[in-house]
Amino acid sequence: MKKMIKSISSVAVVLAAVVPMVATAAGMPFGGKDSVSDAVALWSVLDSEGLVGSNAVHSKPYKGMAPHGAVLDTIEKNVTVNGHTGKVIIKRNYGGEGVSIAKVAQDPKPWLKALTVMFKRESGYDADNQNWFYAKYKPNGSLHTNPKKVKLAGRVAKGMPKGCIACHKAAPGGDYLFNQ
Ligand code: HEC
Repeated sequence: MKKMIKSISSVAVVLAAVVPMVATAAGMPFGGKDSVSDAVALWSVLDSEGLVGSNAVHSKPYKGMAPHGAVLDTIEKNVTVNGHTGKVIIKRNYGGEGVSIAKVAQDPKPWLKALTVMFKRESGYDADNQNWFYAKYKPNGSLHTNPKKVKLAGRVAKGMPKGCIACHKAAPGGDYLFNQ
């Protein structure tokens, strides 16, 4: 009897150690496998729509503010990714020593630091936060990471005091957008 209790309790210990790990991997609000593959799918649609990549359309650059670039341009369109159609907003973030609106207007490429993107997902994707998917891409389409090396794609950074969601939540109008 004593032996059985001991083995039961060791099973419980093992389960306690494993279960939360599995739960976090599946329910990771951002940077997990699903979020990263969603970001890859979104980028390839943006690329085929001519919204990112070397021949991408640009809008007029304007003076930006932290945490986005010193110079920005923003475009939006409806796109379909994995069967879901929603609005995508692409903000190109420009920076570097000596950056200016005129220089970016003339030749944007050398100044492009990041593309921060919001894509309106199906309802239920993130009901607490207006169902936005966020991603921060490098100019080549790979993802930026946070200081803990977590990729910035998905519900970034849901439940945390800083990051895409925490800041965009404060935008006027209730849909997490500053430019509406
Ligand atoms: C500290 C606040 C803050 C954080 C953090 C932040 N943003 Fe923003 N974001 C802004 C502000 C302010 C604007 C409007 C800037 C402008 O166009 O002048 C903006 C604009 C945008 C826009 C254009 C749509 C809009 O709201 O006008 C996108 C897309 C965007 N951000 C994506 C992101 C992504 C993706 C992240 C996380 C990787 C992020 N943002 C993190 C403040 C923030």
